[in-house]
Amino acid sequence: MKRHTLGVLLLVAAALVMVPSPSAAEVPENPTFHKDIEPILQRSCQVCHRPNNMAPMSLMSYQETRPWARSIRNKVEVREMPPWHIDPKVGVQRFKDDPSLSDDQIATISRWVDNGAPRGNPADAPAPVEFQEFGAWTMEPDVIVRSTPHTVPAEAGDWWGDYIVPANIPDDRYIKAIQTKAGDLRVVHHALTYAVTDPDAPLSDSSNDAFLNEYAVGKNADVYPDDTGRLFPADARVRFSFHYHSVGEEVTDQTELGLVLYPEGEEPDKVLYSRQLAQAGELDIPAGQVTRHDGYQKMYLPGKLTAFQPHMHFLGSRQCLELIYPNGSTEMVSCANFDFNWHIVYNYEDDAAPVYPAGTTFHVITYHDNTEGNRGNPDATNWTGGGSRTIDEMAFAWLSWHDMNEEEYAAEIEARKERTDDE
Ligand code: HEC
Repeated sequence: MKRHTLGVLLLVAAALVMVPSPSAAEVPENPTFHKDIEPILQRSCQVCHRPNNMAPMSLMSYQETRPWARSIRNKVEVREMPPWHIDPKVGVQRFKDDPSLSDDQIATISRWVDNGAPRGNPADAPAPVEFQEFGAWTMEPDVIVRSTPHTVPAEAGDWWGDYIVPANIPDDRYIKAIQTKAGDLRVVHHALTYAVTDPDAPLSDSSNDAFLNEYAVGKNADVYPDDTGRLFPADARVRFSFHYHSVGEEVTDQTELGLVLYPEGEEPDKVLYSRQLAQAGELDIPAGQVTRHDGYQKMYLPGKLTAFQPHMHFLGSRQCLELIYPNGSTEMVSCANFDFNWHIVYNYEDDAAPVYPAGTTFHVITYHDNTEGNRGNPDATNWTGGGSRTIDEMAFAWLSWHDMNEEEYAAEIEARKERTDDE
């Protein structure tokens, strides 16, 4: 076990003081709400910050936004909002559905707030965005699995917990598309779903399950590329893993998981896997310290990594994924800061997703912050170790990938080389 306390503290500090560098060309001298800020809110914020949705306030108009100006600046400068915690200075930067702000957009917001958050001319306003009807399927499911109804009291602390329910799918089937639909958008902060094959799987521990899907506001169905699918094993049950929060009135939620399946007996060309990989060994997280733990997973076939999702509990602060190639060279693929309130799956764009040769090792580097400085820390005087209770810690990544054969791998490398030469 290694501890690089100082290094990590410096790293964390560096992330916090990462002041965006305004470039004269892109950051307007006198930004106004309607001309410069509203388009940013439309693209990156309003999907959650609108009436009857998960976020605490609406940012649909100038009147609604103005009182929050200072708070907005604070949250965007440290990149807590929008919730997207990939380190923009490390590794692959192209992801599907990336709502994050550019340095220039952040600088524009800061300048707007410093100048007193002026409204500007309503004639400059962009056309309002038509948000899709939430609570609707964006595909037609063959099977719908419903979670156990859960009543969220009007006033209560946040609730993290799981339900496991039968799916009633008697044969091995492959999933073509999948969507999680929250019953009540206001109370479901997040919902993750897993296929559970172990009949004795404990409610508190999803580590032997296969990850299926993540519910996020405004997210459409995950439709896998042609001839690609994910196995739903015969008789598997579905784990719904929730974070509920109260909204001032009692609400009962029942969330649904919809599946579009390949016909019975049909197997796609490529099978997608999502598993927890590279779990670090014994965790030793002394009170008052920032620790680093390392986990490794060797891959015996060539493949393409399609998604990275860090997994820790309350003390988790950052996780990085490095590839160690068979020739010994290494590549840092992604780092993400971590906030237990947000379980974000970072899906790489297809042509940016890392491809790796047989014999590559996934190296997952996990940082836990057991100091007072970590707002999520329930008790900075406690030693913490590994375990599956929420107050224990974890250190692994959920990784999604598909294997390739040697020809497919060689063809993909060649195609990428040609693209780079064209640029
Ligand atoms: C995926 C949904 C989502 C998106 C997108 C999002 N927010 Fe939030 N926001 C939330 C939630 C939920 C909270 C409540 C705190 C939490 O759960 O982290 C929040 C909290 C905030 C707060 C703090 C409010 C308070 O009570 O102090 C601010 C300010 C904020 N968001 C601004 C923004 C801005 C600006 C954007 C876009 C640049 C944005 N958010 C994008 C969901 C979102």
